[in-house]
Amino acid sequence: MSQPTVLVTGSTRGIGAASTAALTARGWRVIGHGRKDADGVIGADFAQPGAAAVLWDAALEMSGGRIDAVVNNAGLFAANPLDASDFAWLDGWEETLRINLTAAAELSRMAVRHWLAQNSGGRLVHVASRAGYRGDSPAHWHYAAAKGGMIAMHKTIARGYAAQGILSYAICPGFTDTAMADDYLASRGGAALLADIPLGRVAEPEEIAAIVAFCTLDAPPSMTGTVIDANGASYVR
Ligand SMILES: NC(=O)c1ccc[n+]([C@@H]2O[C@H](COP(=O)([O-])OP(=O)(O)OC[C@H]3O[C@@H](n4cnc5c(N)ncnc54)[C@H](OP(=O)(O)O)[C@@H]3O)[C@@H](O)[C@H]2O)c1
Repeated sequence: MSQPTVLVTGSTRGIGAASTAALTARGWRVIGHGRKDADGVIGADFAQPGAAAVLWDAALEMSGGRIDAVVNNAGLFAANPLDASDFAWLDGWEETLRINLTAAAELSRMAVRHWLAQNSGGRLVHVASRAGYRGDSPAHWHYAAAKGGMIAMHKTIARGYAAQGILSYAICPGFTDTAMADDYLASRGGAALLADIPLGRVAEPEEIAAIVAFCTLDAPPSMTGTVIDANGASYVR
């Protein structure tokens, strides 16, 4: 058996980097991704239309023609204030939707078509967010909408292709200790926000990575369509 290959988007930092380490430790080959080319990392800026297709083609070539799993992890968490100009607000909305949802949809579509054409199974793992269920701050309508859309897309894929062995799993982290969360915690008063998390702390990227690895490697097929929460009980559905 050749070494199985997984494409992890947003692998340069945070949850993506921790997931890469977890998957590599389990013997998988990881094809990484970030905005810019680097060692073992394919550069593709999802803010640019067509970037996801370029990434998929490059990853497929690098893999030798077979990708076994895709982790849709890349994401942007940027404030979009209600009182921005109409133009700036729409721009912010469209950029976040393109990076956090459209690129994941394009990659999922290409992966599903790849697995259907090969008549093989495959796994999608989507890193969504607690915001997709709970909503987010007034400056983050777009972020919550993108993550809610990702969850709906994931469920649709799971229902559509389970019979062909194409499985889809989603993860909804709460605050996780990465650059993204640092900005947010600082802007919201840090310690006060932690008081809203019964566990008393934010998640570590390695905790989310352990769930990514579980979904990619271990989760039973019957779990396809599931959404796994990891938020210290700050939002219990
Ligand atoms: N941290 C949290 O509190 C938290 C909570 C819930 C959900 N999440 C979700 O978890 C995922 C990972 O978050 P994180 O905290 O680990 O993020 P992070 O540390 O900020 O890293 C973001 C990753 O996404 C990539 N990325 C950002 N903008 C991109 C673009 N325009 N095109 C292509 N790639 C882009 C970055 O690549 P570069 O290095 O090239 O910029 C980086 O690899 C995201 O989907 C996020 O929404 C995070």
